[in-house]
Formats: sequence, C-alpha cells, structure tokens
Amino acid sequence: MGDRGGTGGSRRRRTGSRPSSQGGGGPAAAEEVRDVGPPGDAPAPAPAPDKDENGGSDVGSGPWDLRCHRLQDSLFSSDSGFSNYRGILNWCVVMLILSNARLFLENLIKYGILVDPIQVVSLFLKDPYSWPALCLVIVANVFAAAAFQVEKRLAVGALTEQAGLLLHAANLATILCFPAAVALLLESITPVGSVLALMAYTILFLKLVSYRDVNLWCRERRAKARAKAASAGKKANGGAAPRTVSYPDNLTYRDLYYFLFAPTLCYELNFPRSPRIRKRFLLRRLLEMLFLTQLQVGLIQQWMVPTIQNSMKPFKDMDYSRIIERLLKLAVPNHLIWLIFFYWFFHSCMNAVAELMQFGDREFYRDWWNSESVTYFWQNWNIPVHKWCLRHFYKPMLRRGSSKWLARTGVFFASAFFHETHAAPVTPASPIPGPLGACGHGGG
Ligand SMILES: CC(C)(COP(=O)(O)OP(=O)(O)OC[C@H]1O[C@@H](n2cnc3c(N)ncnc32)[C@H](O)[C@@H]1OP(=O)(O)O)[C@@H](O)C(=O)NCCC(=O)NCCS
Repeated sequence: MGDRGGTGGSRRRRTGSRPSSQGGGGPAAAEEVRDVGPPGDAPAPAPAPDKDENGGSDVGSGPWDLRCHRLQDSLFSSDSGFSNYRGILNWCVVMLILSNARLFLENLIKYGILVDPIQVVSLFLKDPYSWPALCLVIVANVFAAAAFQVEKRLAVGALTEQAGLLLHAANLATILCFPAAVALLLESITPVGSVLALMAYTILFLKLVSYRDVNLWCRERRAKARAKAASAGKKANGGAAPRTVSYPDNLTYRDLYYFLFAPTLCYELNFPRSPRIRKRFLLRRLLEMLFLTQLQVGLIQQWMVPTIQNSMKPFKDMDYSRIIERLLKLAVPNHLIWLIFFYWFFHSCMNAVAELMQFGDREFYRDWWNSESVTYFWQNWNIPVHKWCLRHFYKPMLRRGSSKWLARTGVFFASAFFHETHAAPVTPASPIPGPLGACGHGGG
C-alpha cells in the first residue's frame, strides 16, 4: 500500500506504459492495470484495482504480488493496435549497411580498384581534336534562331498562320532528324556523345514547341482583344501591367535564350523570378553536383560494369536461371545509381541552374517516393516533362475532343519514342525498338 517506489510497482509501470508511450496503445493499453479474476476458461471482468490513500494503485506492490497477468494481446496481433515498428526499420537499415559493406569488400577483393576517371573521357571523345557532339549542340542554335525569325514575322503579320505552322513543322522535324542522321553517319562521334547531343536536341524540340504554342495563344488573345476594343470603339493598348512583358515585346533573343537555358520546358512571357542569387545555396548545389558525379562514375565503373560483363555469357547461352540471377544482382546498383542520379539532376543541377538564372519555380519533382500507384509515380517524378505533356499534348488533345484514354496513349507513345531515340545510339545492334525503354513511360 502506497509503496510506489517498490520493486514490483516500478516493474509494472515500465511494462504497462511501453505500448502506449510508443503510439501502440489501443485495447492493450486500456487494460493496463486490469487483472484476471478467478481462474476459469473465459476471463471475467476485472475488478477495479485497489487504491491507496493517495489514489495510486496498489497492484504489484511488495514481494507478495498475487496478480501478474492481465487481459492483453500479443503485439504482432492486429487486435493489439500496436503499430510502432521503427526499431525493425532501424534493424533493416543496419542489415542493409552490413550486406552492402560485405558486397563492397567482396567487389574490391575480386576486381581491385576499377575506378578510372581518364577512361570516362574516352566515352565522350574518340579523338581529342574532334568534338562532333559539341559541334552538333552548337549547330542547334540555327534551329532556335529559325523558330525565332518565324515568330517575329508572324507577330507583324508578314507570314500567314498556315505558312508559320508549315515553317515551324519543317524546323521541328529537322530538329528530330538531323542529330539522329549525324549520329548514325558520323564515325567520329561516340555513343555517349550521341546520346547527349540527342538529349539536347530533344529538349530544344520540346522548348520550341512550347515557344510556338504560347506565342500563338498570345496572338489569338491579341486578336480577340482587338476585336473587342474595335467593337467597343476603343483603341487596344495591350493592357500591359507595369514591369511585365506583353506580346510581342517578348520576341527578343535575350528572352528566347533565357527560356532555352532555364530549367523548364514550358515557355512563359513572365517567369517567376527569385529576388537574388543565394551564394551559399548555389555553392552547396555545386559541391553536390561535383561529389555526386564522382560517386556515380565510381559506382558504375566499380559495381555495374563488372556485373554487366559477367552477364554476357548467360545471355549468349540463354541460360534463364543465370540471366535472372544476373538481373537481380544488377537491380541493386541500378536502384542506388538511379536514386543518386535523381537527386543529382533534379535537385542539385536544376536548382544550381535556377539559382544562377534567378528562376523562381523550383518544383522540379513532387513526392514520388510516397507513390501508391504507377500513375502517381509517372505524374510526380519529372515535373518539367509532366507539365509539358499536360500543357502541350494532353490538354490540347482533350480540347479537340479526344478521349482521356486516347490522349494518355498519345503521351505514352510520344514518351516511348523519345526514350527509344535516346537509347538507340548505345544499343546499335537492335534494329527494332525494344519494349524496355518504353515500358511504363507516359503511363499516366
Ligand atoms: C498523361 C498525363 C499528362 C496525364 O496526367 P493526369 O494528371 O493523369 O491527367 P488528368 O486526367 O488527371 O488531368 C490533368 C489535367 O487535365 C485537365 N483536364 C481534364 N479533362 C480536361 C478536358 N476535357 N479539357 C481540358 N482539360 C482537362 C484537368 O483539369 C487537370 O488539370 P490540372 O492539372 O490543371 O488540375 C501524365 O500521366 C503524364 O505526365 N505522363 C507523362 C509521364 C512521363 O513521360 N514522364 C517522364 C518520363 S522521363
């Protein structure tokens, strides 16, 4: 009675409070100080615990503790209401670190150090005096200038809309075909150089589609505003808000090149701008870019390349069980490198460019790691592409009366096309587009 500091009392308080204090309370916690009554098959309702003069419970006090059981479920039973498995998660992390440390050591013992930064240069250049991929990217300026000149003429009415559409279509088609033809025909270009050049051209293609669409929408709006003003007997003045650019004042090379270098695929006349360049933020992103580039190159050379080389024989022999084993082995570094790549590209690189250009919209990704469906993942991991698909492909198709299914299928095939084009230079042996590059893309 009243022996709150007694051995039995302190033990009871510790064990009883654990589930509730860790968020795993529920029925078990509610039964905390109940006791099982007389022995029998079914547990009888527990009598209220005796109270001491201070209102405390006297159960478990002293060495003559008669009651040590109570009505409660095991923690793993769903009825227990217990849900705190954080310790198990910690244990999984420890296991992950241990198994990867073992893998790391095994890899070093088996292959030695394979990391070679000089070898990386050979991926980009065959001959140190010939830089075909870079030349190809520089030539891309011609196509940007062509799109700009067409827009300039459309703005002053020197070209009809049909003629403008035709010229834009020819320019965009050339943007798609020209780098692919060069990559195919030029011997001195490396596969990695080709992929990078093709990516640059694809980005240019998507940006110029957006540039053309937005300028067209502005012209349509201007025509509507003029018609309204004419019917109201007033002179249309463009209605520009102070310090914002209105059409056609946006048609300058400065504006076009700001858009071409900005980390977005969707054009806007007035991009949201951040007030200043934060030097510390920029430095952190640049250091991340430097470190993560090294890490990715190191992991690919040390971990992925030997595994891929060891996979060649099972693939040649069509030994299915060994092929599956090799693919599963590759899945681990693949996942890790993809995650590092994601952070490196979508957080470090894009934020560094945005900070330098004072580009305000930093939503380059959303919380794809909480995805509960493939659709959610595809909508949220690459926001620049998702925004472009939605604004320049999906919604225009819906507005023209297509069904959602058709619009989504269209996005899927467009996305698959671009993925296949990029993968082609590094898989020259396959004349037919493989299903792997396309699978899942644009799934929506
Ligand atoms: C195809 C895709 C664009 C569909 O997106 P979604 O969000 O599932 O499409 P929804 O049907 O929910 O509609 C989205 C928008 O269209 C609008 N919309 C729906 N029906 C419409 C209609 N009839 N007319 C006009 N707009 C319409 C919705 O209001 C919504 O607008 P909001 O975004 O402003 O809210 C998307 O899955 C996608 O981006 N896929 C590409 C993924 C990809 O390739 N990623 C990159 C890989 S590297």
